[in-house]
Amino acid sequence: MSTLRTLGFHHITMVSRDARRTIDFYGRLLGLGLVKRTVNFDDPSAYHLYFGDETGRPGSILTFFEWRDAGQGRWGAGGVHHLALTVSTPEAQLKWKRRLTDAGVPVTGPLDRGYFKSLYFSDPDGQILEIATRGPGYDFDEPADALGAELVMPAEERLPTGRDEGEIAATTWPDPVPEVTADMRLDGIHHISAITDDLDANGAFYEEALGLRLVKKTVNQDDGKTRHFFWAHYEDGVVTPGSSMTLFDWSNTTVRARPGAGQTHHIAFRAKDAEEQVAWREHLVGMGLRVSDILDRSYFESIYFRAPDGLLVEIATDGPGFAIDEPVESLGQALKLPDWLEPSRDEVERALVPID
Ligand SMILES: [Fe+2]
Ligand SMILES: [Fe+2]
Repeated sequence: MSTLRTLGFHHITMVSRDARRTIDFYGRLLGLGLVKRTVNFDDPSAYHLYFGDETGRPGSILTFFEWRDAGQGRWGAGGVHHLALTVSTPEAQLKWKRRLTDAGVPVTGPLDRGYFKSLYFSDPDGQILEIATRGPGYDFDEPADALGAELVMPAEERLPTGRDEGEIAATTWPDPVPEVTADMRLDGIHHISAITDDLDANGAFYEEALGLRLVKKTVNQDDGKTRHFFWAHYEDGVVTPGSSMTLFDWSNTTVRARPGAGQTHHIAFRAKDAEEQVAWREHLVGMGLRVSDILDRSYFESIYFRAPDGLLVEIATDGPGFAIDEPVESLGQALKLPDWLEPSRDEVERALVPID
């Protein structure tokens, strides 16, 4: 067991075919802040957009590469199935259902998962999103100090055969929701759910490589035959918000995730600082993993490696953060480039489709 323990997610990076459309969806419709507009440091012809809370706190960050010619991605083993964002209450969640539905976005739910309630929809590129309530929490059906110890089967009324789909579909907020009100604020990543073809090997990887702990052993509540296990930063009976990595068990499947639009490119976990990042790298190399050098991403430092099922994983430092090259008040308004790309700014800007 690792002595290093990540506190949870730093960011998730997805693929967009149209940056302007992505800004409209995540910025205007979902109310997230655009905290940085820059380019992909490995491919400066592509925008790299960062959304998050006011300062782009680790755990609140959703990022997109704009690849206008990207083919359509598909989920499968070695890929992310969906990303869940946090909402404070079931009432606020219902307001989201009404706001999204009125905007023409098809929504499923709210479904009662026991430990939280879930609403599902897709972004314009096809990335599956969820809005999940903060609680009641994983100790809903097992003791807080012994989470993940036993297989816990969902109650019959939470499975497709036991729930009233008609009533769920009809449940929504009674009034239109033209503005994202304070109570509706999406407060960072709730969980990320991936599909794996080897639950045991990949679960062991998240425990050993990242120091996460098993907090729920159950089955997919939409498909009772599929094992669904949850890992998180879990200490002294407390699960840290924004740290839940869940895996669906697709043993022996031949369906592999296909990279592309509407798919997650990679997921990133938190390292405290540059010193801890060095320790993370040594730890991962010591496990026999192929790990990238420590790369300077301007706003954080990163290392990259792969889970056994192929999912690309990053560890990123909490600092220095997005205010390093522009004031907090105007984050995301101007195109920012790393120093080594500044001399070719004209060329870089000419290659990008304007988004204002
Ligand atoms: Fe989920
Ligand atoms: Fe990243």
